[in-house]
Formats: sequence, C-alpha cells, structure tokens
Amino acid sequence: MSFRIQPTPPARPNRCQLFGPGSRTALFEKMAASDADVINLDLEDSVAPSDKDTARANVIAATHEVDWGKKHLSVRINGLDTPFWYRDVVDLLEQASDRLDQIMIPKVGCAGDLYAVDALVSAIEAAKGRKKRISFEVIIESAAGIAHVEEIASATPRLQAMSLGAADFAASMGMSTTGIGGTQENYYMLRGGEKYWSDPWHWAQSAIVAACRTHGILPVDGPFGDFSDDDGFRAQARRSATLGMVGKWAIHPKQVALANEVFTPSEEAVLEAREILEAMEAAKARGEGATVYKGRLVDIASIKQAEVIVRQSEMIAG
Ligand code: COA
Ligand code: MG
Repeated sequence: MSFRIQPTPPARPNRCQLFGPGSRTALFEKMAASDADVINLDLEDSVAPSDKDTARANVIAATHEVDWGKKHLSVRINGLDTPFWYRDVVDLLEQASDRLDQIMIPKVGCAGDLYAVDALVSAIEAAKGRKKRISFEVIIESAAGIAHVEEIASATPRLQAMSLGAADFAASMGMSTTGIGGTQENYYMLRGGEKYWSDPWHWAQSAIVAACRTHGILPVDGPFGDFSDDDGFRAQARRSATLGMVGKWAIHPKQVALANEVFTPSEEAVLEAREILEAMEAAKARGEGATVYKGRLVDIASIKQAEVIVRQSEMIAG
C-alpha cells in the first residue's frame, strides 16, 4: 500500500441519477417525487438548439419553485465545444437558487476543461456572494476523456462524480455499436460453435473506477437506452456494481427502481458482511489474521470488502 491513504468519496447516496430535458417542465414535479438520489435537469443533448434559452430559464425557475426534497440537484450544461456553455454557467450561477447543488459537464476531454469551468464558477460565486459552493460531475464520453481520465479525476476539489456516457463514447471511439450501453450483438467469443457475449464497456468502466477511487470521486454508470428492457438494464447495472460503480442513470422513470434495487446492498449481503466482520474479530482475539467463514478463506482484505458493503448500507439508511 502506498503511504498515501485512498480518499473516501462524498458520503451521499448516488444509486440513481434521473434525467429530464430542461425543455419539458411538466416532468419536473414528477422527477422531484421520484426515488432517485440525484436529479439531472438537462440543458445539453435532450434539448434542441432552438430551445436552449427557454430550457435554461425553465431550469433556473425550477431551482426556486420546485421542492426537490433531499435530492442532490444537478444541471447538465452544454459541452465546451458549443456556443451555449458559458451562458449556462453564468445564468445558473447568477440566477439559480441556493438549492442548486451541482453542475454536470459533458464530454470532458482534459483537466483544462474543468479548470476553465472552475475559474468561471469561482468568479461568479465570489461576485454574487453565493453561500453554497457548487460541486461538479463529469461525463467521460470521448476518446480524449478516457485517455485523460486520471488527470480529469484530480482536476478540481469541486469534482464529486464521474459517469461513463456509452453512446457518445462509442461514437468517439469509432466503435461499431448500436444502442446506448448493454450487450452488443457483434462482441462475442466463439466456442464449439456457441456464442458467448463479452462486455465492450468493461475497460472504460474499470479505468473510470480506478481514476475515481484514486481521487475520492463517485464512479457512475451512464444511460441504458432501451427502457423497455428491464433485464438488460439489471444485467448492465450488476456488472457496473461488481466493478465498483455506485449507481446508474435513469433516462425513464421506470429505471429508477431498477437502479435502486441493484445499487442498494441486499439484506443478505449486509448480513453476510457483518458475519465476516464478526468472524474476523473472533480470529483477531485468537491472534489469527485469517480464518474460515462458510468453508472459505477470509482475511484482513475481507474486512475491507465487508466494510464497503456495511458502510454503503448504513449511508443509504442514514
Ligand atoms: N422523469 C420523470 N417522469 C417522466 C420522465 C422523466 N425523465 N419521462 C417520462 N416521465 C413520465 C411521463 O410524463 C409519464 O407520466 P404520466 O404517467 O403521469 O403521464 C410517465 O412518466 C410515462 O412516460 P412515457 O409516456 O413512457 O414516456 P415519454 O414518452 O413521455 O418520454 C422519454 C420518454 C425517453 C422521451 C423521456 O423519458 C425523457 O425525456 N427521458 C430523459 C431524456 C434525457 O434527459 N436524456 C438525456 C440524458 S441521456
Ligand atoms: Mg452524451
């Protein structure tokens, strides 16, 4: 272990991030009433260029008028390659209420992208005397983003979460895929004439998790486009959870319960984790660093794995 202790990410649940276009105000109250931990009001790709100004004004009004409860409230601004983003930041920081928690920056390609937004946000916060310091989340959804993922993860102390955006990522990488996330028809191994599907998102997800864990950021899986396919969503989400991600986006309200189901440790998992911790306490009292639990080896590393599950469940409950 390096002498540098791995930082802990923000202690807030981030199991599901529910998206809605800033141009569809009728959805705002429904989003607020949902069970999502995080709300993402969108100014970017779900809003047509002709609607950008209206959507921005809608979202600002919604920070004042809608009761968002305890949800983490985030607004996705437009990318730094557009003419819209600076106005998004200026108007949000000057006019949104203190209920706004976070802004999401899409298509981040290097640490400098965050430096630029941080400089603008910091200046407006100081000028306006804003009390709440706005946090950031980013989407890794380009070749540059994944190539520079570690410098992005360490770019600013404002950064709390990082998501993989599968569709834009696939396009930027030149991947011949269809659909947003999930199993890809042509990504398989052959054995005895049988096809075995592999996971084309695995490497990018692992790179994001490693960068996030190194710098105390929450790693999140992005959208799953086919909202009629519950089992497909669950399968994708379970793979992400297994790799260390803490949550997933919902691009339709029916995906919220699915994400919460997968990213909330089950009662059995928590019970088993607590039993492992007890078994290790008993081993320690006997002067042993390893012992047997249900016929398998558990040791000091098992304590850390069990603690991840117990901490997650306590944070969600609390
Ligand atoms: N949040 C909360 N409620 C939503 C919602 C959302 N994102 N999307 C739809 N609903 C509501 C509908 O208003 C409807 O409510 P009702 O039963 O009271 O009438 C119900 O959920 C069922 O909606 P449905 O008819 O199945 O969907 P739709 O055709 O209205 O919208 C989408 C489908 C995909 C266009 C819409 O869900 C959407 O815009 N999702 C977010 C897209 C986005 O933000 N993308 C950017 C990130 S990738
Ligand atoms: Mg995108």
